[in-house]
Amino acid sequence: MAAADFPAEFSSDSPEETIALGERLAGFLRPGSIVALRGGLGAGKTCLTKGIARGLGVEETLTSPTYTIVSEYRGRVPLYHIDAYRLEGDEDFENLGGPELIHGEGISVIEWSERLPHSLPRNLMSVEITITGDQRRLFKISGMEQAGGNV
Ligand SMILES: Nc1ncnc2c1ncn2[C@@H]1O[C@H](COP(=O)(O)OP(=O)(O)OP(=O)(O)O)[C@@H](O)[C@H]1O
Ligand SMILES: [Mg+2]
Repeated sequence: MAAADFPAEFSSDSPEETIALGERLAGFLRPGSIVALRGGLGAGKTCLTKGIARGLGVEETLTSPTYTIVSEYRGRVPLYHIDAYRLEGDEDFENLGGPELIHGEGISVIEWSERLPHSLPRNLMSVEITITGDQRRLFKISGMEQAGGNV
């Protein structure tokens, strides 16, 4: 499927469906791609990232450790899973070496990307998640055609 034909909105009725969506999204990512995830606590950001990891051929289980900001996984391309929840803002991210990381040849998926308004480029895939029911989540996807990365 061409990026332009991918649905801009996607409704999921289970964690498994969200993982399957992540796997499909992974097919559009290239070295240097950045995926910005927004959505409150328990929206499904980590769940979607699990699917992306699976789609990138990561065999290890992706987790959401409380105090780790950046986790690296080895798939066909390195995957950087960044959780900005505990960052004060862009300066914290810079001190961690975040900008160098996301502009490298790995694929970066960033939870709570709204905490880093000045650190992220414009050309990224962006996913906004809304909780619409107990098991239901609405995913609004934009920038699919820009997921091709910068390398
Ligand atoms: N359709 C769905 N898709 C994804 N998760 C769902 C769905 N329905 C229910 N859930 C539940 O919602 C929770 C999502 O958790 P997850 O850790 O992915 O959220 P998160 O957005 O990463 O939260 P946090 O901001 O705390 O990191 C899980 O407990 C999961 O079982
Ligand atoms: Mg999470």
